[in-house]
Amino acid sequence: MMDDIEKIILDENKIQLIVDRLASEINSDFDSSEIIFLGLLKGSVVFMSDLIRRINVPCKIDFMAVSSYGSGTVSSGNVKILKDMSMDITGKNVIVVEDIVDSGNTLCCVMEILRGRNPACLKLCSFLSKPERRVNNITIDYLGEEIPNEFVVGYGLDYDEKYRNLPYLGILKPEVYS
Ligand code: IMP
Ligand code: MG
Repeated sequence: MMDDIEKIILDENKIQLIVDRLASEINSDFDSSEIIFLGLLKGSVVFMSDLIRRINVPCKIDFMAVSSYGSGTVSSGNVKILKDMSMDITGKNVIVVEDIVDSGNTLCCVMEILRGRNPACLKLCSFLSKPERRVNNITIDYLGEEIPNEFVVGYGLDYDEKYRNLPYLGILKPEVYS
């Protein structure tokens, strides 16, 4: 599997430093008010499990799975809810946890849906962002790292459902997907 990786861009140590920083930002912002961490399946799972173990305010977790409608090049921004969260977020503090914000379409739709459910506070925490690819001005309240416009895998991120288990973030060799 390592043979498919062209270059490691974030190693395990660097990733742990990023997660430490994000957790302390969240800990100081929320003080003692309860947080619901809402992970978007499946990419956020590895990041979220590391993140929540560094949170020292009361929290709960939930998950949601969404998929984009239509072809990848269409920026219609529609998403389909494949699995909804199970909790009622009315009046609650919610932090949506995502692996990567690319075009921003998925998150834009998800945040809009969630805003309609009247949480007390709705924030976004993303491990990665590819700012060059953004087509809308979504606010990432807690951002791990900005990366260039390259296809990355590992630490939860996949190509064709593979590589999520790699403990680091790497750029996939182009011959793997061509
Ligand atoms: P967006 O709606 O264009 O922002 O798409 C975000 C989703 O695309 C993420 O949740 C990932 O599942 C996927 N994605 C975008 N870039 C990458 C990448 O470099 N590697 C793996 N998945 C990616
Ligand atoms: Mg994803």
